Amino acid sequence: MKPVILDVDTGIDDALAIAYALNSPELEVIGLTTCFGNGPIDYTTRNTLLILEQLERSVPVYIGADKPLSRPAKKFPTHVHGEDSLGNKAEKDPVMEAESVGAVDYIISEVKKRPHEITIIAVGPLTNLALAVQKEPEIASLVKEVVIMGGAVFVRGNVTPYSEANVITDPEAADCVFSSGLPVTIVGLDVTMQTLLPNSKLADWRALGTDVGHFFADMTSFYMQAYETFHPGIGGCALHDPLAVGVVIDPGFVKREKWNVKVILEGEETGRTVAYAEGETKIQVCTQVEAETFLNHFLNRLF
Ligand code: BDR
Ligand code: CA
Repeated sequence: MKPVILDVDTGIDDALAIAYALNSPELEVIGLTTCFGNGPIDYTTRNTLLILEQLERSVPVYIGADKPLSRPAKKFPTHVHGEDSLGNKAEKDPVMEAESVGAVDYIISEVKKRPHEITIIAVGPLTNLALAVQKEPEIASLVKEVVIMGGAVFVRGNVTPYSEANVITDPEAADCVFSSGLPVTIVGLDVTMQTLLPNSKLADWRALGTDVGHFFADMTSFYMQAYETFHPGIGGCALHDPLAVGVVIDPGFVKREKWNVKVILEGEETGRTVAYAEGETKIQVCTQVEAETFLNHFLNRLF
């Protein structure tokens, strides 16, 4: 079992990623850290706790960043994730509560406690990770692996033609993480846009006749409707955050290339993730995905 910290900005596809991770025996999710992103930090933390309650699982949740490192927060993507950042399904408050330790201190202490053991999967803006490595640069050499969902290295973006949502939400944080020496695998739009969850699968979830099946189907239906408006006729939604989890469960789902990567921080191309070949690198960019194999694996594990 790989010990994993899952950093989330829950979010509909984050919720799918949490369920996939918690139902995969290869992973031991030791903590969930939250970040602003798909909504304000209060919402993303509440949604994370609500998803744990839906799944009837107890994992400690640590509250993280409420704003980008050095620029004002952008408008939250309510058109993609709903007014509550959970497809308008966050109808009650969770009973469970977050821990009193903050996400950044939790990440630092866990990595130092278990050198070369911890895998961090980060599927929101990279603010928590950037703050952790700024506060304790030593952790860069002590983390086993960092797998992020973010960026659009060789393909177009999803917020602007150049930028992907998690990176454009805090470009300085992403650039900081990429230049930190952390061993980062980038699961970007290059591969996630090939992982399509077809609309028809939601009927299977509802047919389970469980609360959690209905909850996840309703929530994901909101996301699919948003996808349909951006990509008419697409017939489903991309499994961005679940694929980052999948890559940790089974590295064979993707092919990777070694690149150095930097983030454009100014002008029209802000948020662009640029690959370049000079110098040493610990960054790997996922460039191909076994989409069908991954999708079936995800569907078999989700509930
Ligand atoms: C990423 O942005 C967020 O909206 C999703 O949760 C995912 O992490 C996709 O670009
Ligand atoms: Ca996310």
